Amino acid sequence: MAENKIIAVFGATGAQGGGLVRAILDDPGGGFAVRALTRDPKSAKAAELAAMGAEVVGADIDDAASIERALAGAHGAYFVTFFWEHFSPAREKAEARRMAEAAKATGLRHAIWSTLEDTRRWVPLSDERMPTLMGDYKVPHFDAKGESDAVFRELGVPTTFLLTSFYWDNLINFGMGPRRGPDGGLLFTLPMGDKRLPGIAAEDIGRCAYGIFKAGDRYIGETVGIAGEHLSGTEMAERLGRALGEPVTYNAISPADYRALGFPGAEDLGNMFQFKRDFEADFRAARDPTVARALNPRLQDFAAWLEANKQRITIA
Ligand SMILES: NC(=O)c1ccc[n+]([C@@H]2O[C@H](COP(=O)([O-])OP(=O)(O)OC[C@H]3O[C@@H](n4cnc5c(N)ncnc54)[C@H](OP(=O)(O)O)[C@@H]3O)[C@@H](O)[C@H]2O)c1
Repeated sequence: MAENKIIAVFGATGAQGGGLVRAILDDPGGGFAVRALTRDPKSAKAAELAAMGAEVVGADIDDAASIERALAGAHGAYFVTFFWEHFSPAREKAEARRMAEAAKATGLRHAIWSTLEDTRRWVPLSDERMPTLMGDYKVPHFDAKGESDAVFRELGVPTTFLLTSFYWDNLINFGMGPRRGPDGGLLFTLPMGDKRLPGIAAEDIGRCAYGIFKAGDRYIGETVGIAGEHLSGTEMAERLGRALGEPVTYNAISPADYRALGFPGAEDLGNMFQFKRDFEADFRAARDPTVARALNPRLQDFAAWLEANKQRITIA
């Protein structure tokens, strides 16, 4: 019997990587084994993954030698960076480079790089429609990832570039869920005007990544965009209202007002939503739910995700 191909997964205790770890473990006959990478193999989350059958290995994306050790003997790897841990695009670019260099050095056969658009291709720094942030960026957590695509290409790493979408889980974990307005009614705030936002259940990102690995060489060198569904703010509010059993009103504020909300990352996210709003056609065309469903037949739409998660949405 052929040995299972090892997939080394960064972010294994988190959203994207966790979904991939579970997808591989859910398919024992699929021909793959999973190596879950974490900074702390002794943590409770790491122990949970080990109990499910994952090999757990220590690695830190800020430590090149640890990445190389983590990739030794692996067929593939899932590379994701963690912008919101440090809010530094320069650091995110260095981390992506370190991953690509380790992939090259270890002769990895298939990398998936979890990326996003370099928005400066649509909105150059000279464009004053949105402010330039941190000196060199429009949407720092997008631009740093998109700029890093070139490193994987230049080094000749066999890579699939995975364009992810807004996680619906942000309504639980990122403070983006409905809030009570001044009149006591529920408001769902987004600066998207009447445009549609591609969204996805975070768990489905890893499941789609598994579909890419299972497809062999088919997506190497390709950019694959995924979403569960594209919905307007009004449509999201309507589905939220149905799930929560109380009407939710879409509160369409301007990107400038969103940038001014003052929480860490508000300017970055205000620019991000403005980019998604103003370049809706390109942004949506790059994320086809049909493609995602072909990779992951269990792909959820927003209503299905809400049905499974509505109890976890707390109202601020
Ligand atoms: N939220 C969204 O809607 C959205 C949409 C698209 C893309 N993204 C992008 O997704 C990325 C984050 O991915 P995620 O949501 O899957 O992360 P996450 O759920 O926050 O998980 C982060 C995991 O990464 C690990 N980690 C953090 N720093 C590390 C390091 N230096 N070395 C190794 N592992 C490290 C941690 O594991 P240990 O503690 O076990 O080491 C942690 O469990 C961000 O860059 C963000 O821009 C987010």
